[in-house]
Amino acid sequence: MTDGTVSFGDHRYKRMSGSVGPDVVDIRKLYADTGMFTYDPGFTSTASCQSALTYIDGDEGVLLHRGYTIGELAEQSNFMEVSYLLLNGELPSAAELNRFTTTITRHTMVNEQLAQFFRGFRRDAHPMAIMCGVVGALSAFYHDSTDIHDPAQRVIASHRLIAKMPTIAAMAYKYSVGQPFLYPDNSLSYTGNFLRMTFGVPAEPYVVDPIIERAMDRIFILHADHEQNASTSTVRLAGSSGANPFACIAAGIACLWGPAHGGANEAALNMLREIGHPERIPEFIARAKDKNDPFRLMGFGHRVYKNYDPRATVMQKTVREVFAAMKVSDPVFDVAIQLEELALKDDYFAEKKLFPNVDFYSGVILSAIGFPTSMFTALFALARTVGWVAQWNEMITDPDQKIGRPRQLYTGPTARPYVALDQR
Ligand code: ACO
Repeated sequence: MTDGTVSFGDHRYKRMSGSVGPDVVDIRKLYADTGMFTYDPGFTSTASCQSALTYIDGDEGVLLHRGYTIGELAEQSNFMEVSYLLLNGELPSAAELNRFTTTITRHTMVNEQLAQFFRGFRRDAHPMAIMCGVVGALSAFYHDSTDIHDPAQRVIASHRLIAKMPTIAAMAYKYSVGQPFLYPDNSLSYTGNFLRMTFGVPAEPYVVDPIIERAMDRIFILHADHEQNASTSTVRLAGSSGANPFACIAAGIACLWGPAHGGANEAALNMLREIGHPERIPEFIARAKDKNDPFRLMGFGHRVYKNYDPRATVMQKTVREVFAAMKVSDPVFDVAIQLEELALKDDYFAEKKLFPNVDFYSGVILSAIGFPTSMFTALFALARTVGWVAQWNEMITDPDQKIGRPRQLYTGPTARPYVALDQR
């Protein structure tokens, strides 16, 4: 490798540098030059795109959105401001923030007919099953914002998705508990409105607790974007074919649902509850280390972070603050703290660089706020929508953008004659 190129056989490939982080080798011509593909299941060494949104240094445990650390944003900003930042690249002025927040607020209602759509689901449907279906169905209700080549329509679709996700997530919850849907209340903040639509009832006024509102808003910030993770890559891949944004976000939701991704917060709390008491922690650590046992410590480990996930730091602090302010405690939190302590001292986790990720503590706090575990991933989807939408917009305007179409190493049978049914 010399002077900005990397050689492969007789061929040289351009080495590209970003503003920070590892360089990449531009191998777009590799197949044409050599007749070979690269092999990288799970994309562990592949940059699938250029992006100016989010930067992660997994070894140092750093997460930046448009250059700002997640710690600073969680401490000093709010979800609307972070959403503006992700979408537009810069922090807004007071007037810009006000305009953006007003726009989002004005889009929080959903088409009245969507309520009928909800009623087609069984009452015990998982909220993520409902979210996949309903968000995908938005494309059938908002035709006027599905032309991806029209920048104005892209903006409206983006605003609609960010604004309607809390309404849809709250409706999914209300439907599962058999309570009436609540219309949004535009006098409340984005997060306060979501809390009211989820926990309020039409029979009496709902007073938003500012401590819970702040904690929830911070949880939304922590989940807003995370570089080219599985669900974001799913959104980009779906969008690369020209699919409309509602369909793309529905695809992202489906991917997020998996327990190795967004579903881990639900799985982590279930695991902590199953452990139940600090005395049982060693037994679960032993299981996590046992190669013959498929059990893993949920909320531990990350594809990119080989250090403490900076979101877990904020999350742990937020749990402490909320518990102190509400004068409550939860034995599950004690189990989590002690499990983390023991795991971090254990050689297995140290050698494999397995640290708590954002999901390790999020379940504890969401449960304290009153959400059932089945809602956890839906909340993640709500918050991540802004990241998905921002990444989708970035992709559409990227001059290098092409339909995503990976190749493969074929290992099946070679060409053979068809055998008629009566001869098999
Ligand atoms: N508990 C026990 N062992 C683990 C864990 C864990 N939580 N995570 C990884 N390992 C071990 C694996 O067994 C593997 O061991 P080996 O090298 O001896 O085979 C090694 O660490 C590397 O693990 P991989 O699965 O290859 O790492 P990968 O980067 O593919 O996976 C993942 C990352 C999926 C997050 C993994 O750590 C995991 O399953 N964690 C639990 C689920 C979880 O918390 N997911 C949330 C991710 S964060 C998010 O989506 C917001």
